Amino acid sequence: MNQVATNTQKHSPVFDINAIRADFPALQQQVSGHDLVYLDNGASTQKPQAVIDTIKQYYERDNSNIHRGIHTLSQRATDQFEAARVTVQQFINAPSDAQIIFTAGTTESINLVAQSYVRSFLKAGDEVIVSMMEHHSNIVPWQILEQQIGIKLVVAPINEQGEFLFDEFKALLNENTKFVSITQLSNALGTITPIKDIIDAAHAAGAKVMVDGAQAIAHAEVDVQALDCDFYAFSGHKIFAPTGVGVLYGKRELLDAMPPYQGGGDMIKEVSFSGTTYNEVPHKFEAGTPNIAGVIGLAAGLNYVSNIGIANIAAHEQELLQYGTEKLLEIDGLHIVGTAANKASILSFKIDGVHASDLGTLLDHQGVAIRVGHHCAMPVMHFFGLDAIARASLAFYNSKQDIDALVAAIKKAVAMLK
Ligand code: ALA
Repeated sequence: MNQVATNTQKHSPVFDINAIRADFPALQQQVSGHDLVYLDNGASTQKPQAVIDTIKQYYERDNSNIHRGIHTLSQRATDQFEAARVTVQQFINAPSDAQIIFTAGTTESINLVAQSYVRSFLKAGDEVIVSMMEHHSNIVPWQILEQQIGIKLVVAPINEQGEFLFDEFKALLNENTKFVSITQLSNALGTITPIKDIIDAAHAAGAKVMVDGAQAIAHAEVDVQALDCDFYAFSGHKIFAPTGVGVLYGKRELLDAMPPYQGGGDMIKEVSFSGTTYNEVPHKFEAGTPNIAGVIGLAAGLNYVSNIGIANIAAHEQELLQYGTEKLLEIDGLHIVGTAANKASILSFKIDGVHASDLGTLLDHQGVAIRVGHHCAMPVMHFFGLDAIARASLAFYNSKQDIDALVAAIKKAVAMLK
């Protein structure tokens, strides 16, 4: 990801922003009498017609349970579900589709690893390292394990720009470090972490590594084999696919060794009151009827992104990020929060004398959607001495006109508030 974000490759002429925007019905609406300017993609992305049609067709034609039925609809649903697994495998370059586990989202993927791998293989006194800029979903699961089994949570520091301090991280690694779980792209700051270096250093210290890819997945190429991460997690809804579906990738030997996370149908081979045997991965971790439509929709979202090309997306967004940074800094009293040299897709800021939630409300009245608050990352907010910031988060369908509309709306709001 480091390479992609600093990539100077220009996006190809086929990147037609107007054609792309036309694929997203939700972008074609007015809010409060203004054309919608959607800049809350870090929270959730809009869905292209191709994803909506895929889900609609599934429910209109193929809706049925998977892995259970001999009838035609069940076969169709199963085929599409398992084809989606292969699409995900190829999207992140996993060695096999058996290493793709469908979950409800990044949060469930991280909790699965915490409660299955870490709870089983770590003991009291073992250390898990996260960074100061993690989302709550990459903090709280480890705190629960502190209470349950006495692991110690260690926090890798950042600097005032919001950059991951790699040397300080390396100094934290010791013989007790057994697990490291770090974001690839901070949802609050936009910082791109040196994830490959983190993984290599953690491995050299004998620790396993989980990557929280919730934000990164939609903005840069992810190759889990090149990264050599032990686990990788992401959510469908951050990558133009439905909510309620996510992915956990894991190395095969780890997944095989891990106990099930939940018990139920489909995760078993044989059940009796004298003992139960578990299914192979990935099914061992997919108890109960999954989000079938969501999984099929996820594949449609990934295919949509692949067709545009992740390098084109990254190049377009870098251009917008630079433009947006310059334009926002022209506003009196505005400070960007998160100024890492290597960042992507996120423009977080505060304005002197203006509360973020007042700003968010007044922007919404002008049709501009941003997120305000602590961004589910309270520790990093406290690090900056803040309780709330405003955040514009970009997707490939955003344009310079969206940035101009944001800046104009902020100026109007600030004039009303000051
Ligand atoms: N994690 C999501 C965000 O950053 C909800 O907004």
